[in-house]
Amino acid sequence: MAFTIAIDGPAAAGKGTISRAVAAHFGFAHLDTGLLYRAVGARLLEGVDAVEAARALRAEDLEAEGLRTPAVAEAASKVAVIGEVRQALLDFQRAFARRQGGAVLDGRDIGTVICPEAEAKLFVTASAEVRAHRRWLELTGTGHDIAESEVLADVRARDERDSTRAEAPLKPAEDATIIDTSELDIDAAIAAAIRAVDQRKD
Ligand code: CDP
Repeated sequence: MAFTIAIDGPAAAGKGTISRAVAAHFGFAHLDTGLLYRAVGARLLEGVDAVEAARALRAEDLEAEGLRTPAVAEAASKVAVIGEVRQALLDFQRAFARRQGGAVLDGRDIGTVICPEAEAKLFVTASAEVRAHRRWLELTGTGHDIAESEVLADVRARDERDSTRAEAPLKPAEDATIIDTSELDIDAAIAAAIRAVDQRKD
């Protein structure tokens, strides 16, 4: 059985945690597609051409250390505006989405471009301030010394770049269920996501 759950949304909205929990609940495989762009962004910071890096990307590159830093996130959103980079990453994502046993993919354009035929589509969002606070807690918790105001500025800059780019801009698919997590704790957000998928399964 192939069943695709597409989970999109802006930076630090809680997509990662929700996606992992939804995948575990349904016994599906999970792909964090942001890691593909982060891996290409990391190669760009090493001086490699972004399009070449995207074409040469291997599954094991997603396990590399250091992909979660703010500098790599920034580089990821820069390479993500390049159409040839997005094209090079398309087949891998589509094959993953249609694998047997079900798949959850989280990103920016899963419900709109990568898997418009996905059986369930969620758009997870929250206010920029709430998202920046969560990301700041996550970064300082893993030893990064960064001001919350800087994280908020980063989040806003990335939102702007991701939403206004010509190729696959960040936006909810027309048939996506919107989950605003500004006022939800993580358990409530996960429960809302599972409910939304259950409704699409019937
Ligand atoms: O975890 P966070 O939401 O901060 O970022 P991410 O999901 O790892 O994505 C990093 C960057 O990759 C985003 O800012 C987007 O520019 C880009 N991206 C994309 O364009 N399309 C996707 N499907 C996933 C990520």
